[in-house]
Amino acid sequence: MLEDKIKGTIRDVIDFPKQGIVFKDITPILENPELTSEITKAFVSKSEVLKPDAIIGIESRGFFWGLLIAQAMDIPFIPVRKKGKLPYKTISYKYDLEYGSAEIEMHEDALSKGMNVIVHDDLLATGGTAMAAAQLVKSQGANVVGFSFLVNLTFLDGEQKIAPFSNNIISLVNY
Ligand code: PRP
Ligand code: MG
Repeated sequence: MLEDKIKGTIRDVIDFPKQGIVFKDITPILENPELTSEITKAFVSKSEVLKPDAIIGIESRGFFWGLLIAQAMDIPFIPVRKKGKLPYKTISYKYDLEYGSAEIEMHEDALSKGMNVIVHDDLLATGGTAMAAAQLVKSQGANVVGFSFLVNLTFLDGEQKIAPFSNNIISLVNY
């Protein structure tokens, strides 16, 4: 099963980035082109039914499959980046982290009214990042038709934060 293959390839890194956290390192997957491609195909088959006009990928790990999915579906890829990284005029959204806050941005002309998009990231934890990206989409008059993640840390219940935007929450691996 694909989920077992992914789980068997993800590397647990103890105490990163700080004491007590077990970090799910997905980079070993990227070294395996066959598995990477199998994952892209799984995302595409689950995404197709939602008929998105574009894939929104969240910096930085959401860029890995975000672009691969968009290319395979022959639709645009739109990057959401951390504050200060996008060169043109941007819209931004600030959100709370466990300690402090973060801000993400999108180019103001990246989306047009009525577009249907999937918000993609590698991992759903508390849901704050994906929710902020969904807010950016909504603020442009576009619609979130779904979310996709390689990994969902279900015990953090990020789904309840993003479900108000769309109930279509794709995840290939759940912990
Ligand atoms: C991680 C992960 C998601 C986000 C999930 O990114 O890649 O983007 O956190 O957390 P949340 O659901 O609690 O918001 P990180 O900020 O570590 O940055 P990176 O992708 O650039 O490595
Ligand atoms: Mg990230």
